[in-house]
Amino acid sequence: MAEGPTIAFVPFATPSSGVLVVFCDEGLKLGSNTRRLLGPAADLVARAARADRFKGKSGTSLDLVAPADLPVSRLIVVGCGKPSEMKPKDFLKLGGVAMGKIPSSAESATIVAELPNRAMSPEQASDLAQGVRLRAYAFDRYKTKRKEDDEKPGAVKIEIGVSNAAGVRAAWRGKEAVADGVVLARDLINEPANVLFPAEFARRTGALKRLGVAVEVLDVRAMTKLGMNALLGVGQGSAHDSRVVVMRWEGGKRGTPPVAFIGKGVCFDTGGISIKPAANMEDMKGDMAGAACVVGLMQALATRKAKINAIGAIGLVENMPDGKAQRPGDIVKTMSGQTIEIINTDAEGRLVLADVLHYVNTKYKPKFMIDLATLTGAIIVSLGQEYAGLFANDDRLAERLSKAGEETGERVWRMPLGPEYDKMIDSKFADMKNTGGRWGGSITAAQVLQRFVGKTPWAHLDIAGTALSSPQTEINKSWSSGWGVRLLDQLVRDHYER
Ligand code: BES
Ligand code: MN
Ligand code: ZN
Repeated sequence: MAEGPTIAFVPFATPSSGVLVVFCDEGLKLGSNTRRLLGPAADLVARAARADRFKGKSGTSLDLVAPADLPVSRLIVVGCGKPSEMKPKDFLKLGGVAMGKIPSSAESATIVAELPNRAMSPEQASDLAQGVRLRAYAFDRYKTKRKEDDEKPGAVKIEIGVSNAAGVRAAWRGKEAVADGVVLARDLINEPANVLFPAEFARRTGALKRLGVAVEVLDVRAMTKLGMNALLGVGQGSAHDSRVVVMRWEGGKRGTPPVAFIGKGVCFDTGGISIKPAANMEDMKGDMAGAACVVGLMQALATRKAKINAIGAIGLVENMPDGKAQRPGDIVKTMSGQTIEIINTDAEGRLVLADVLHYVNTKYKPKFMIDLATLTGAIIVSLGQEYAGLFANDDRLAERLSKAGEETGERVWRMPLGPEYDKMIDSKFADMKNTGGRWGGSITAAQVLQRFVGKTPWAHLDIAGTALSSPQTEINKSWSSGWGVRLLDQLVRDHYER
């Protein structure tokens, strides 16, 4: 796992060395503690701002090297725009901006968590800290050499100055758990498929046991017995055996139905016999991002001891072309008894999810099911990388997800489902086929899933656009975003904890 900075909360004080980060608003106003701690250097800020035309706009910054009147090596002033308009996700972003300005060669840095008009609340300061942690993430475990003049970046020691250190530490425990969940998801997604194949992925979920999560692994034998032939069909061309992992966290009232999260875990998707073109195929090591998010979320819920009963279930396979691989035209019988004609072996995610959704639904009778999957290229055509596609058979669940999306910045856009689309997956030979043609490709994929959820409230998140080759943001510079962990944790916090 990437090391990341150490983060500690301390009372406001002028540091004796290292980098100092402070915030100002659009009028260049500094907080009272910040002014006190800068002393005469506060005037320096005003002069430098004029010289550099720095106005304190949100996300911009002013960099002062070896400032006179201060013992620090660098003073960085970060603009926060209009403090009165700042939402939780803006504090996250601010933390990201601040971390981004701290040179990797720095050994220590102090961030003064104060707005021009008041000290940040424990919630706000811990959102800021979460942004710091996520921005600092890098996946570099396979880099054995560094450029000569690159100083070896150590774990930067970050101190965050706050008015109520004990309060912030308490709020941070929950936020840190979520940040660590995102980091775990990113790490799993970034791992190459020669390292992270289904059995290894399953093995790594075992680490959640020490947090009190029950982890059960189904191997090929167990799945054969259950009749998970759709999932097994996808994996049958691979030298790596398939697995299903079910993680259970019981932090809620005994006996109350759990909520369930289900993830697509295609450790590598070549397309199978309907093989993909070579360009960007390497990205398909991330076709298990849905599963990674579920594991990250379960770790977060358990670490912060969420008062909820939750199931996390992931279907782990590798989709390969081979003498034993499944063919177009093959018909598989799913665990639910419904049959699927394979038209395109590259539409494999829905086959995996069909069996896992049915298994979770019938075995655990959950309050709701939410699945996450890098399911279709078509959702990237529809929504780009800014929104995930949301499909749901339940308006209330859909609305709650949309709201959590706005709160966290992990936004979802609801897409339609309906009988007209459902008809498109009827098959000449079986109960359904696994593709519905070129048009509305994300919708027909979701229609396949819907046939396996019964009447249980269900939402499907197509994260093909948001999880991989992620846009560079203030809180993510990595190829994988870990998208979904913060969203679903927020959903749980807002509505489902007792
Ligand atoms: N894993 C892919 C979808 C994908 C594409 C994820 C790009 C991330 C980036 C999925 O299994 C797939 O291949 N879908 C096909 C479905 C088609 C064959 C009906 C697609 O989207 O082209
Ligand atoms: Mn595919
Ligand atoms: Zn896939």
